[in-house]
Amino acid sequence: MSLLITGGTGYIGSHTVVELLKSAKDEEIVIVDNLTNSSTKVLERIEKITNKTVTFIKADICDTSALEKIFNQHKIEAVIHFAGLKAVGESNEIPLAYYQNNVSGTLTLLEVMARHQVKNLVFSSSATVYGNNISPLNETMATSATNPYGQTKLMVENILFDLAKSDEAWSIACLRYFNPIGAHQSGLIGENPNGIPNNLLPYVAQVAVGRLAQLQVFGDDYDTSDGTGVRDYIHVVDLAQGHVKALESLAHAKGTVKGCQAINLGTGNGTSVLEIVNTFKEISKQAIPFQVVPRRAGDLATVYADASLAKELLGWQAKLGLTAMIQDTWRWQSENPNGF
Ligand code: NAD
Ligand code: UFG
Repeated sequence: MSLLITGGTGYIGSHTVVELLKSAKDEEIVIVDNLTNSSTKVLERIEKITNKTVTFIKADICDTSALEKIFNQHKIEAVIHFAGLKAVGESNEIPLAYYQNNVSGTLTLLEVMARHQVKNLVFSSSATVYGNNISPLNETMATSATNPYGQTKLMVENILFDLAKSDEAWSIACLRYFNPIGAHQSGLIGENPNGIPNNLLPYVAQVAVGRLAQLQVFGDDYDTSDGTGVRDYIHVVDLAQGHVKALESLAHAKGTVKGCQAINLGTGNGTSVLEIVNTFKEISKQAIPFQVVPRRAGDLATVYADASLAKELLGWQAKLGLTAMIQDTWRWQSENPNGF
């Protein structure tokens, strides 16, 4: 049997493939990725870490015939669907590309899955679907979106809820990620953003390594302990293990996830921007110059998860703390200053 991993050469996908290979019985791992935001170099690194091989297919999830071929050639029993575009700012500039890639691409994938009677799915959703709800955020809260990227996640979630209602053979975990950071402990794989990073951690890491001059802290007048934004940072390896547990909970395995179920993957703890900067400075022993600038449009003061459902349904909870997250980010960044 095989597992199909869309977007498997990306940041979260590559870490998940490593955890799957570590836990996998005899399943073949088939990665499909169009390499718009990743490189095949990650494949050698995955094989180096695990001593196992993966099957890689360069293809776009919007390409029905490419997907048909994959499902005809491999006995796929479940899919983890990471492939998508993920930059909030860019999604305001090129919304059609986001709807096409993230919504239309997912529909294409779901149609091919349905035709081949493959109805076990883990989907990469985001805490962004909670809109302006007050933290801690839990899965029963109303969802909304404030930008095209968030809309695509919400639209796909709604499609998946409808699909599961229409046919009880579907078993779907919609994993709502909080803020994934960190890298594999080996220093061989990590986040590799194109151009100037949008997210805090890769930005801080590139300042520490000397690629960027200084960090801009977006606002220090929030109603938080030190005035800067608070987020629920989660180690990408913990997140990856959450996917292994989610997969094991679908109908083809334990079956604790019935129909379509939204599940938070977060730690339940909040950390401010200045706490991140100070911890990074201590661990890397590098200067991290920063300047406080006005708030970034659309940012909330505080976002963190109620992480209890994942524990109940998946038997999963995050284990790694902020020190490990930052040590591993720094190891990856300092050993690979220019990425892959
Ligand atoms: P990433 O960009 O590193 O990985 C996504 C991968 O998908 C890339 O390798 C890219 O080349 C591939 N891809 C994109 N469009 C494709 C297409 N049409 N066909 C085939 N491959 C395609 O991103 P990531 O951080 O690993 O995120 C993975 C998923 O998790 C995304 O769906 C993202 O929206 C979601 N997510 C990420 C975060 C985060 O902070 N990183 C937070 C919440 C949700
Ligand atoms: N920040 C800075 N300077 C920067 C970048 C970020 O001060 O250069 C601050 C932000 O204002 C925020 C915190 O650092 O307070 C974290 O910002 P990120 O951009 O790293 O993460 P966000 O929480 O804003 O966004 C993340 C994902 C989105 C997702 C969102 C909600 O990147 O895809 O969480 O789940 F939509």
